[in-house]
Amino acid sequence: MSEAYTQAWQDSIAEPERFWSQAAEVIDWATQPIRAFDVTDGWYPGGTLNTCYNCVDRHVAAGRGDALALIYDSPVTDTICRFTYAQLLSEVGRVAAMLASLGVERGDRVVLYMPMIPETAFAMLACARLGAVHSVVFGGFAPLELAKRIDDARPKVLLTASCGIEGARTIAYKPMVDEALTLSQYGVERVVLFQRERLRAEMTPGMDLDWAELRAATAADPVPAPVMVGASDPLYVLYTSGTTGTPKGVVRENGGHAVALAWSLANIYGIGAGDVFWAASDVGWVVGHSYIVYGPLLVGATAVMFEGKPVGTPDPGTYWRVIARHGVKSFFTAPTAIRAMRKEDPEGRFVQEIGTGALQAIFLAGERADPETIGWAEVQTGLPVIDHWWQTELGWPAVASCFALGDLRRKRGSAGFPVPGWEFAVLGEDGQPVPSGQSGAITIRAPLPPGAFRSLWNNPAGYEKNFLTFPGFYETGDAGFFDEEGFLHIMGRTDDIINVAGHRLSTGQMEQIVAGADGVAECAVIGADDAVKGMIPIAFIVLRAGAESDAAMVERVIARVRHELGAVAALKTCFVVPQLPKTRSGKILRNLLRTIANGEDFAIPATIEDPAVPELVRAAVLAQAER
Ligand code: COA
Ligand code: AMP
Repeated sequence: MSEAYTQAWQDSIAEPERFWSQAAEVIDWATQPIRAFDVTDGWYPGGTLNTCYNCVDRHVAAGRGDALALIYDSPVTDTICRFTYAQLLSEVGRVAAMLASLGVERGDRVVLYMPMIPETAFAMLACARLGAVHSVVFGGFAPLELAKRIDDARPKVLLTASCGIEGARTIAYKPMVDEALTLSQYGVERVVLFQRERLRAEMTPGMDLDWAELRAATAADPVPAPVMVGASDPLYVLYTSGTTGTPKGVVRENGGHAVALAWSLANIYGIGAGDVFWAASDVGWVVGHSYIVYGPLLVGATAVMFEGKPVGTPDPGTYWRVIARHGVKSFFTAPTAIRAMRKEDPEGRFVQEIGTGALQAIFLAGERADPETIGWAEVQTGLPVIDHWWQTELGWPAVASCFALGDLRRKRGSAGFPVPGWEFAVLGEDGQPVPSGQSGAITIRAPLPPGAFRSLWNNPAGYEKNFLTFPGFYETGDAGFFDEEGFLHIMGRTDDIINVAGHRLSTGQMEQIVAGADGVAECAVIGADDAVKGMIPIAFIVLRAGAESDAAMVERVIARVRHELGAVAALKTCFVVPQLPKTRSGKILRNLLRTIANGEDFAIPATIEDPAVPELVRAAVLAQAER
């Protein structure tokens, strides 16, 4: 046990005002906050700041203009680019001038549908500079999902690129943007498109502007000064899967976000000015927002942006090469990435040969880290592999072993201990805490610490309705338990969200899409175990009389989910079954379907309507799996 961790956690809970006021001292405020927290106004009321200024300008002003800010490493385009803080300031300034020329102002929204290129980070920071609110949409989402986000965020401008590069494939973004603009109700004023060498896109006259041309046209414009915004002004909206087909827009506020991220870099990951930090994620996810872009820059460290995959770009040594080449000190990835590497390189040949350079620790999150994966990574690297837990809503880790506070306690299968600022309670259905060792709903005492969301975009009632089902506690949607030693074990979701390769998806949303396919009478989508991706979605469909052939229906259902939700849905398996197992009250027994999909033995639940159905389903699954 680390005294520093215990003390920090106790201080944060007993005296949050003092703890978070002290933490806020590392941020440059234009106006100092009156206090740390106010029930109505949230974190740092009265404070004004600019997040871009804190990430970029102030480091240059402090004489660190020559220090490395961002490394772009892209094995898929065979490119490595390095930007110092002075260069980053110049690049961000140019994009801010471009956006300003289009009339983007404080409070306006800008949607980004961009690949993993430096321009994406420049654009996020440029929005922050102008006090505008960005909303980054992950490239794996289909046009309809992009359209939903456009309609909700109502952006003045949409930023995109001609393509993304997914391993060996080039994904044209422009046709998807065009389709999204047709599907959306809201009229975006302008699209600014970054042409990549790999694939040049056709421009739509009158709507699309070429990034490079706009940059040249505004080259003589002054760099817009950072607009100082209130601490509770939104920095970004990030949409995430809820239990319905409508994504939830998580609102991140400037002040708390800056303080919390800076605190986490120093106290969890052990990263400060001059250190290199790499989060192998995508800017479309919260991990990318917090730890590819904002977090490392807030503390004056070097951020790594990697465009590639853990395997196949070109081999399972690519992550270790990036780590060794750039002197990465702390590394953050999803367990899926480790499993993918392990599958192709079980002996760890690549890591042995390439080494891990200056790496001190590996952090895992986004999905459950199975003990075998952690064990493999620890043996291969000889480094601590630290599982930690958080969510889009929270913005930064809530459960971890605070490595930089000297807490190295770890137990495989557990995500660690509550991070300072977060007070957990595991509650039973009656809302009462359950004894340690017993599983229940994982909740966190409200108000949540800085950095966590306090509202949903365009949905004032949504926060309370969705998350405060237990009065006074935020319901995480995860179930789990504290063991006797205080380790928190995350056992899974209490709703229909699944994590596929660390990507958060809603099976409920997929069910809605599948149910809409002509010829489908009934359906269920569940998350089954997968050796690499952790989980994969599987659809079970019951066909209407007269529907197309089974094979044609399966193909159509899979294509429909890909078309409406996107490639990221990764729905590749669909079984036609004669009936779905249900309770007598008509509820589909999804757990039973999961057991069957996993090939496990099942027990017939007492509540089942027809005990013969599970066997029929299993027989159908086995017959189709063989084909
Ligand atoms: N733009 C367009 N398409 C994308 C995309 C993007 N940004 N990201 C993923 N996709 C596509 C993939 O190409 C794939 O398409 P396919 O079905 O045509 O092959 C599909 O979405 C599913 O992607 P994914 O689940 O990532 O599978 P994969 O086979 O491409 O890669 C791994 C498997 C394990 C290598 C990959 O999932 C991975 O790197 N995982 C790490 C997870 C991670 O970093 N998560 C971040 C959250 S912390
Ligand atoms: P996201 O909002 O995409 O970050 O997904 C958050 C969800 O991912 C959590 O609610 C968990 O269900 C899951 N998750 C994240 N980290 C972990 C972890 N370390 N262990 C188990 N599940 C995790």
